[in-house]
Amino acid sequence: MRNDIERVLIDEAVIEKRLDGMAKDIERDFPGGTLVVIILLKGALVFAADLLRRVPRPLIIECLNVASYHGGTESSGKVDFLDRHFPEVKDHHVLLLDDILDTGRTLHAVRQRLIEEGAVAVHTAVLLAKDKPRAEEVEADYVGFEIADEFVVGYGLDYQGKYRNLPFVGVLKLSATS
Ligand code: IMP
Ligand code: MG
Repeated sequence: MRNDIERVLIDEAVIEKRLDGMAKDIERDFPGGTLVVIILLKGALVFAADLLRRVPRPLIIECLNVASYHGGTESSGKVDFLDRHFPEVKDHHVLLLDDILDTGRTLHAVRQRLIEEGAVAVHTAVLLAKDKPRAEEVEADYVGFEIADEFVVGYGLDYQGKYRNLPFVGVLKLSATS
């Protein structure tokens, strides 16, 4: 798996340090009381597990399965909700977690849906944000790292379902995508 990586973009120690900072910001910004956290599967799984253990407050943790990519390295332009049941968010403050902000379609669509379902407020946190124009008007409230517009894997992010368990964020060799 490591052999398929061209270069490491963000190593584990740097990610961990940044998560300490993000958790402090989240803890400072939210009013007291229980916060509902929505983890977008599967990409945000690793990020969420490491971030949320640093947030010392009552959390209700929910997961959502959405698909915007269908296996390749280009966004399909459509966001599908794959779960039969939507988490209960009515009258709650919600923190939405995703791995990466790319075109913005996913965060935009899920945010809209959470508001329709009665969330009081929706804040968003992403590990990575690509430096590029968004297809939808959306920015994240908390961003771990801004990166260039290139395809990355690791720390939850996949290429065709693989590489999510790499402990760092890296760029794939071209040979691994062919
Ligand atoms: P968006 O809807 O275009 O913002 O894309 C969001 C989703 O696309 C993310 O949750 C990822 O699953 C996927 N994605 C976007 N860029 C990358 C990447 O560089 N590597 C792996 N997955 C990505
Ligand atoms: Mg993905």
